[in-house]
Amino acid sequence: MKFFVDTANLDQIREAYEMGVLDGVTTNPSLMAKEGIKGEENCRKHYVAICELVDGDVSAEVIATDYQGMIREGEELAALHPNIVVKVPCIAEGIRAIKYFTDKGIRTNCTLVFSPGQALLAAKAGATYVSPFVGRLDDIASDGIELIEKIVDMYAYYGFKTQVLAASIRSTQHIIQCVEAGADVATCPLSAIKGLLNHPLTTSGLATFLADHRKVNS
Ligand code: G3P
Repeated sequence: MKFFVDTANLDQIREAYEMGVLDGVTTNPSLMAKEGIKGEENCRKHYVAICELVDGDVSAEVIATDYQGMIREGEELAALHPNIVVKVPCIAEGIRAIKYFTDKGIRTNCTLVFSPGQALLAAKAGATYVSPFVGRLDDIASDGIELIEKIVDMYAYYGFKTQVLAASIRSTQHIIQCVEAGADVATCPLSAIKGLLNHPLTTSGLATFLADHRKVNS
C-alpha cells in the first residue's frame, strides 16, 4: 500500500516526506489554486519544486480538454521531471490521450473516476493509475469504498496492470477501508495519514513507561 499526499502545499509535502512514509504526491487544479499559484509558468515551477522535495510519483493535471491540447500539455508536463505522472480526466478525449501517452512511455493518472466502467476504459488505455473519488461518492450518499472494491476485483480478474489510486480520501477511516479493499495507493490529506498514529493505549502506555522510568532514575 503506497501513500501519496493530496496537496500542492510545499510545507505539508515536506512534513509528509520527513515522516519517512511518503511515496508520492497528487495535485489538481483546485489544489494549485488553493496555494495561489497562477499562470502556466508558475504552475510548472511549482511542479518541479514538488518533484525536488519527493522521491516518488507526482501527478500534474492537464487543463486542456481536447485531444491535441492534452497531448501538447501532457508532453510538456512529462518533460519537466522524471517523477511527473500526467493526470488526465476520464472523458473520451482523455482516454484517447492516455492511450497515446501509454504508447509513448509517458505515465498517466486517469482522474475523476466514479464508476467501474470508467475504470475499465482507463485500464484498457493503459493508464498507470486510476483515481476513483471515494469522498465525493460518499458526499452524494453513494458508496466510495464499494467502488474501490469493484475496481480492485475487476483489475485482478482480468490482470490489468493499472494501479488503483484511491482519491478524495477525507479521513483516517477511509485509509483503513482502502487497505481492506486492496487499493494499491491512497492519496490523502496529511491529517488523515497522521491520524493513523492515534491510539489512546499508545498515549497512556508511553506515559506509564516514562513515569516508571522517572521513579527509579530521579
Ligand atoms: O485529487 C483529487 C482528489 O483527491 C479530490 O479530493 O476532497 O476534493 O474530493 P476532494
